[in-house]
Amino acid sequence: MSLQLGDEAPDFTAMTTEGEIRFHDWIGSSWAILFSHPKDFTPVCTTELGYLANLKPEFDKRRVKILGVSVDPLESHKKWFKDIEETQKCKMNYPVIADPDREVADLYDMIHPKALDSLTVRTVFVIGPDKKIKLMITYPASTGRNFDEILRVVDSLQLTSAHQVATPVNWKSGEDCIIVPSLSNDEAKKKFPKGWRELKPYLRMVKQPG
Ligand code: BEZ
Repeated sequence: MSLQLGDEAPDFTAMTTEGEIRFHDWIGSSWAILFSHPKDFTPVCTTELGYLANLKPEFDKRRVKILGVSVDPLESHKKWFKDIEETQKCKMNYPVIADPDREVADLYDMIHPKALDSLTVRTVFVIGPDKKIKLMITYPASTGRNFDEILRVVDSLQLTSAHQVATPVNWKSGEDCIIVPSLSNDEAKKKFPKGWRELKPYLRMVKQPG
């Protein structure tokens, strides 16, 4: 049975480039991103891991921990990190799981044999402090991910988990939000005393709360 949004993220113990971790303990009260990549010493993955290292301060600000995974062994990851740092002008600053036995890959259904035989495809999971899966995206091996988009989704997830709003198309932090349809106008008046713009009864735009 494959994982779905809202499922508990499977827990595991794994060896990473920063030592052994137990996943749920490692997440603690933070949010987490678990992402898989196909293989060490491959070009697209090299750019992705480097970009994410440079973006990590933004994830830190949002209390989001980052964890990579691939089926290559630890020594390979460590050697590859040097290439990533050299070519992507970064410092590798988050752990990557060595998963040669594919335990994590199988738990998270990261191997799609029809797309990429026996290697992990590019999946991204965003996991909340409640250890539930909030987002899953899978990319083909030939397409590098857009981690700015993942950051944008984290902003939306964190906002919408705290306030009764949703975020519209292409929303970015600071832009107007949508009052969730389940909130009546009477309830909305209490939550949003400064008011909102009603384009339709079901489409009520409000300044970003918080
Ligand atoms: C890459 O990261 O460049 C890559 C990995 C596996 C298949 C194709 C490309």
